[in-house]
Amino acid sequence: MADTDRKRWNTKYEGSAETPFTAHPLAARALSLALPDGPMLDLASGPSGSALLVAQSGRSVLAVDVSDVALRRLAAEARRRGLAELISIEEADLDAWRPQAGAYALVLCTGYWDRALFEPAARAVVPGGLLGWEAFTLDAKRTRPSLPDKWCLADGEPASLLPDGFTVLGQTDLPENGKRRLLARLSDQPRSTSTTTGA
Ligand SMILES: C[S@@+](CC[C@H](N)C(=O)[O-])C[C@H]1O[C@@H](n2cnc3c(N)ncnc32)[C@H](O)[C@@H]1O
Repeated sequence: MADTDRKRWNTKYEGSAETPFTAHPLAARALSLALPDGPMLDLASGPSGSALLVAQSGRSVLAVDVSDVALRRLAAEARRRGLAELISIEEADLDAWRPQAGAYALVLCTGYWDRALFEPAARAVVPGGLLGWEAFTLDAKRTRPSLPDKWCLADGEPASLLPDGFTVLGQTDLPENGKRRLLARLSDQPRSTSTTTGA
């Protein structure tokens, strides 16, 4: 699977001359909230503007993606901005690669969904840290019928899959693109998952 994904995404990235390096709103939102010490993990990062934004705030980042083209672009931009020492890249297949547990103040994954990755990603968050995720829902199949079900969030996901100890700061459907966005915090004192409003 990694080879197919790498080729597909390398072709896509090679076909776009300009890389916008736009940070995802979840990255900006996370940085506006209290965050414990520790690095950020950007899963399926692409040439991530979010990684650059977080590094610019002085935090180290590990960006993981299967596309060497995307990661080379990110590394080159990090060098150009003087952020190379803060951004590490790892070319890996997220079908198999798993993060170290309890190691990251912020774990972000946008534009990618693999149910088997979600729990290990949540467990990679340090107490008090944040987990941000955005992916297509099954509603997106109305306009993208070829989208495989396994790439789409089912009702209530991903919040319904959070391990105990997380509080949902916000889970929002984005009807304009068929995606759903989650931001959740792991408490310092693990307890049952609960939902609050206004995130
Ligand atoms: C829609 S892009 C999202 C990129 C970035 N997170 C963003 O929000 O713009 C999906 C990313 O997932 C990566 N990807 C796809 N399959 C993968 C796999 N099996 N392992 C690791 N990365 C993968 C692609 O290379 C691509 O960069």
